[in-house]
Amino acid sequence: MSKYPLKKLEIEEKITELINKMTLDEKIGQLNQLGPSPLGGFEISLKEKKQMLEAGRITKEEFEAEVSEMKWDDREDDIREGKIGSFLSIRDVKKVNRFQKIATEESRLGIPLLIGLDVVHGLRTIFPIPLAESCAWDDEVYEKSAEIAARETASMGINWTFAPMVDIARDARWGRIAEGAGEDTYLTSRFAAAKVRGFQGKDLSAPDRIVACAKHFAAYGAAEGGRDYNSANMSLQTLWDTYMPPFKAAVDAGVATIMGAFNDINGIPCTTNPYLYNEVLRNMWDYDGMVVSDSCAVSECLLHGNVETRADAAMETINAGLDMDMHSKCFIENLKDLVLAGKVSTETLDKAVRNVLRIKFAAGLFDHPFVDEALPEKVLLCKEHRAAALDAALKSIVLLKNNGVLPLSKKAKIAVIGELAESRSDMLGTWAAMGQAEDCVSLLDGLKNQGCEIIYERGFNVSGEFDGDAILKAIADADVVIAAMGETKDMSGEASSLADIGLHGRQNEAAKLIKAAGKPLVSVLFNGRPLAIEELNDTADAIVEAWHLGNEAGNAVTKVLFGDYNPTGRLTTTFPRHTGQCPLYYNHVPTGRPASAVQHSCKYYDIPVEPVFPFGFGLSYTEYDYSDLKVRVLGDKIIATVSVKNTGTVNGTETVQLYVRDKVASLVRPVKELKGFKKVELKAGEEKQVTIEVDKNTLGFYNAKMKYVVEPGSFTLWMGHDSSSSLCTEFTL
Ligand code: NOJ
Repeated sequence: MSKYPLKKLEIEEKITELINKMTLDEKIGQLNQLGPSPLGGFEISLKEKKQMLEAGRITKEEFEAEVSEMKWDDREDDIREGKIGSFLSIRDVKKVNRFQKIATEESRLGIPLLIGLDVVHGLRTIFPIPLAESCAWDDEVYEKSAEIAARETASMGINWTFAPMVDIARDARWGRIAEGAGEDTYLTSRFAAAKVRGFQGKDLSAPDRIVACAKHFAAYGAAEGGRDYNSANMSLQTLWDTYMPPFKAAVDAGVATIMGAFNDINGIPCTTNPYLYNEVLRNMWDYDGMVVSDSCAVSECLLHGNVETRADAAMETINAGLDMDMHSKCFIENLKDLVLAGKVSTETLDKAVRNVLRIKFAAGLFDHPFVDEALPEKVLLCKEHRAAALDAALKSIVLLKNNGVLPLSKKAKIAVIGELAESRSDMLGTWAAMGQAEDCVSLLDGLKNQGCEIIYERGFNVSGEFDGDAILKAIADADVVIAAMGETKDMSGEASSLADIGLHGRQNEAAKLIKAAGKPLVSVLFNGRPLAIEELNDTADAIVEAWHLGNEAGNAVTKVLFGDYNPTGRLTTTFPRHTGQCPLYYNHVPTGRPASAVQHSCKYYDIPVEPVFPFGFGLSYTEYDYSDLKVRVLGDKIIATVSVKNTGTVNGTETVQLYVRDKVASLVRPVKELKGFKKVELKAGEEKQVTIEVDKNTLGFYNAKMKYVVEPGSFTLWMGHDSSSSLCTEFTL
């Protein structure tokens, strides 16, 4: 049960009173979510719209309406008639107020609308993409950016975000790895809870908070082959040990809504899966929030092939316990007949309506449906928000390699190569809500802001453009070359899975050319996923993983390059050396033939199995020494202590990581799993004892009978700099 229950007696009484007044149509209307475009909440290119038409995914009418935005429908009559419970993807405060006015003053029962938008890493102030931000290993950073996003979003009258995305992603080919906190269940659970706190606060009805939505329930990140929307097949143990905990953490933190996933799990589409909603959410977790489908996922069940008609899709979905239909219209078109025919009971319908209305009451929408239209101007992208975006960006950067070339001297003659250096729009990353390219600081802007004299030459880009002569000319007099490399923002995110996660185009060639010219090379990577950069790692003198960092990207990167900020970020996903290694993650289970020099072992014939950079990895401008690791078991707590010394000459912040392995268990257990971490500031030369406590109860797993057990026996415990650290000890439970 959540610490912040939405169910309160006075609210339930008001809902009952309201439901008693509602007609069948009005009830069904509450379960219907639509946006102005006939295709749903997101923008699709004209080319793709044509392809959708050709593939029979949309009708000719929908295509025509879509290509002429004039025909986009604000559906004001539907709102007035109580046929819409929620509107998505509008970004205009006046329109929001107008819709709420129609809903609350012109509809028969005056029920306000839930207005939803994908505010994934900021509304107008754009923070680092979640994968980047997760590298901060910092609950406060996670929470703060969500709180600011909530404030900006609420100022627009938008009261619901489809975030946080808490899917575990172990396959870097999957484009949506950018939207979550990486591959680790423990870290993603911390991230999930912090985001819910940030969006919703302690009081969901506060005017500067919004309704959060944990998505995509469940196992969407396990899409086979990393191909978006693909099927997920796994044991129930893996589902529960790995994919469920972040959702449970979100529920415990009080998340008011959950979104079903597009994929099927073991043959049943999540949309129509009663196990997920009726069983897990409602019966097992006592969840009192609301569940929405993903966009058009209800009608897409016909393509999954587990239902024959749109009516069946609606019936299976609502009977499974999913409350709101995002954009497929299957509910609004079919539920009435289904209820009248007794295929959906009034009790089931009323439960769903109750779940939707509970959110509206809890969010205070009946009390304050409107916003002050002058507010956004004061709130959006204000100084305080930009400062927080810079802080988050600084903490997200991961220094992957440095042979001493960094930090740079401000007096150095610097040449900057690569189109991404000038790009502002790519700094936004995927799902940038109301983010604007012109609000972003590019790498070039950042360097100029520092007053640096630089020579810039585009030279190459990620799509294959390459001008070797121009590169050589530009770098001729330089002391050092910064190459901006990686991916554009469209190469990650939804529907942007890749079959090749290496550096696209001729980027490696550019790096080699620069090195062959005898110049120190600093590669700054802008990307939304781990990249297979073994070759670059062999070529470059330094690699700065800058991800898509949002508005303050260029300023943050520049501070790191010049040592004004000592990098603290740590990877939350493994960096494979080759796409063929995907999925690659540190907490895999051991096999009977672990990878070794022996040929008949679990490895590849052509490449090593090890990643280029392991989970948890990240350098700084100083170094840390670990010693004196001790562990004791005290009741239900495992208490581990280690000494960490900053052995370098500059101050720094180390992220001490704690991993555990259950050595012998009834089921094979991962070779190690993150169970705790602590950030600790250490002045140059300073040494501190760091203690991390682990709850015994978190060391369990789902056994063969699907019972969560903590099995007695011996465990190995590591504390160190990253998942490959070797300082370990043992304890017994
Ligand atoms: C589809 C995406 O899967 C989901 O994450 C998003 O919230 C909805 N579209 C609405 O835009």
